[in-house]
Amino acid sequence: MKARTRTIISMSGLFALCLTVGCERTPHEKVFTIGMSQCNLGEPWRVQMNADVKNAADKHPNIKVIFKDAQNDTLKQRAHIEEFVSAGVGLIIISPKEAAPLTEPVAKAVDAGIPVIVLDRRVLGDKYTCFIGADNKLIGREAGKWIVKKLGGQGKVVELKGLMTSTPGQDRHTGFRAGIEGSQIEVIFEADMKWLEPDARKEMESALARFDEIDLVYAHNDPGAHGAYLAAKAAGRETDIMFVGIDALPHEGVMYVKQGILDATLQYPTGGAEAIDIALKILNGEEVPKEITLGSRIFTTENVEAGGELIGS
Ligand code: FRU
Repeated sequence: MKARTRTIISMSGLFALCLTVGCERTPHEKVFTIGMSQCNLGEPWRVQMNADVKNAADKHPNIKVIFKDAQNDTLKQRAHIEEFVSAGVGLIIISPKEAAPLTEPVAKAVDAGIPVIVLDRRVLGDKYTCFIGADNKLIGREAGKWIVKKLGGQGKVVELKGLMTSTPGQDRHTGFRAGIEGSQIEVIFEADMKWLEPDARKEMESALARFDEIDLVYAHNDPGAHGAYLAAKAAGRETDIMFVGIDALPHEGVMYVKQGILDATLQYPTGGAEAIDIALKILNGEEVPKEITLGSRIFTTENVEAGGELIGS
C-alpha cells in the first residue's frame, strides 16, 4: 500500500475513534493564550517553576503559554505585563520581582478585563484575581523554632535575607524573629543578599571577618545558604557552623542536606501546576478563591531520608 493511502486510512480510523469515544478537543474549541512573566531564571527554583507551569499546560491542548523572563529587571517585568495586555492574552500569570513597582501594571491588566494570577511573591493591595503561594511567615517561624531547639535555646546567628522589597523576604524575616522570640538566640549579623548566592557569599565573608564565633546561618533561600557555606569553607570554618536554607528542591536544598552541606531546608513549592489548574478554572468561567496557600515540609539531617516532615500541622 502506498504511504499516502495508508495515511488516509489511518486518518479516517482516527475520525471513527473520535466519534465513538469522543475527542477531548473539537475542531471549534477555543484556544486560550496565557502570558507568563517570570522575574528571572537565574535560580534553579525559578527554572523549576517554569517547568512545572509548562508540564501542567502541556496536558491541555486548548491552552498555549507564552513565557517571558524579566532577567531580574523590574522595568522589564512591568513592560511584560503591558505587552500582554496590548496583545490581548486571555490570562496573565506573574511571579513578580518586587511588590510595589509591579502593583500598578497588574491592576491595569485587571482593569482591562484580563485575569491575573500572582505566584509566590505578592503585589500590594488586592487588585489581582488569585494569589498562589506558601505561607512565608509560617516557614520563617518554623525555621526559627527549629533553630532554637537545635542550638539548645542560645547561640549566635547570621541572617542572610532575601530581597527585602519582595514579600517572601519580609515574611521569612518577621516569621523567623517571632520563632526565636523569648530565646537566647542573638542575631549578630544580618544583610540583604537579594536571593543571590554570590551576594550571600560576600556578606558571609564580612560576617566571618567580624565574628570569631558564629553558630548558625539562617538564609532565606538555599542558594543563599550554599553561598554562606562556601565562604565558611574557604575560611576553614564550615564544620563549626550550621546552615539552614529555604526552597528544598530535590536536586538542590534536599541534596545539600543529604550531602551534609546544609543542616535543614524548608520547602517552598513553586505553585506552577496549581497556577495552570486555577487558570483553566478562570478561563472556563468558574469561581476561584482569592488566596491559595500551599503546604510546606522541613527536611533535616535526621528526617531527610524519610522524606521530611510537614510543618504547621
Ligand atoms: C528564586 C527565589 C527562591 C525563593 C523565591 C522567593 O528567585 O529567590 O529561592 O524561595 O525566589 O520568592
